[in-house]
Amino acid sequence: MKILLDKEKLHDGVSRLAQDIETAFEGRHMTIIGVLTGSVVLVADLIRLIDQPMRVGVIQASSYRGATTERGELIINSELMLDITGRDVLLVDDIFDTGHTLERVVDKLHEFEPSSIRSAVLLRKEGRQEVEYEPDFAAFRIPDEFVVGYGLDYEDMYRNLPFLAALEPEDLQKHAEHVSANQLL
Ligand code: IMP
Ligand code: MG
Repeated sequence: MKILLDKEKLHDGVSRLAQDIETAFEGRHMTIIGVLTGSVVLVADLIRLIDQPMRVGVIQASSYRGATTERGELIINSELMLDITGRDVLLVDDIFDTGHTLERVVDKLHEFEPSSIRSAVLLRKEGRQEVEYEPDFAAFRIPDEFVVGYGLDYEDMYRNLPFLAALEPEDLQKHAEHVSANQLL
């Protein structure tokens, strides 16, 4: 794996992000909504760096990749979410890639009539954006590579890595071997 952001760099970026958010929400109660599952590590760190009253909740967004479709159908489940009507919401996700996920989740949140919605992401991938929607806060810009760690997964693994790394061909090979070995058990 090629490490793009080590523990210290991640901490510095998330601290700066927390500072920007604190300034933007000064004097207002905020409701932070994390997008499951990729945002769990960022949300856990971020909320402990923001010294302000807040409520914390989650929303689930998962894409199911069909056999013939390029992009999986996005399923948004807001059943576990806090009531956000009339609230100032900060939506938090791991990465803004094409932007379709964040745009769709923001549209969904609007249905609950919050007083405002802003969004924060850990990562923004360069040159991939396909929507007009822009996240309000982003900690890092990264090149167009598939990354894992600090919440981000490849086939639901590697979310626990304390650093951010790009997967290389030999990692994909090892991953495939691990998966097939475990299916034999
Ligand atoms: P978007 O809808 O294209 O912006 O993609 C957003 C979702 O795709 C993220 O929430 C991630 O789950 C996933 N994703 C996009 N790029 C990566 C990556 O490099 N590593 C892991 N997940 C990614
Ligand atoms: Mg995700």
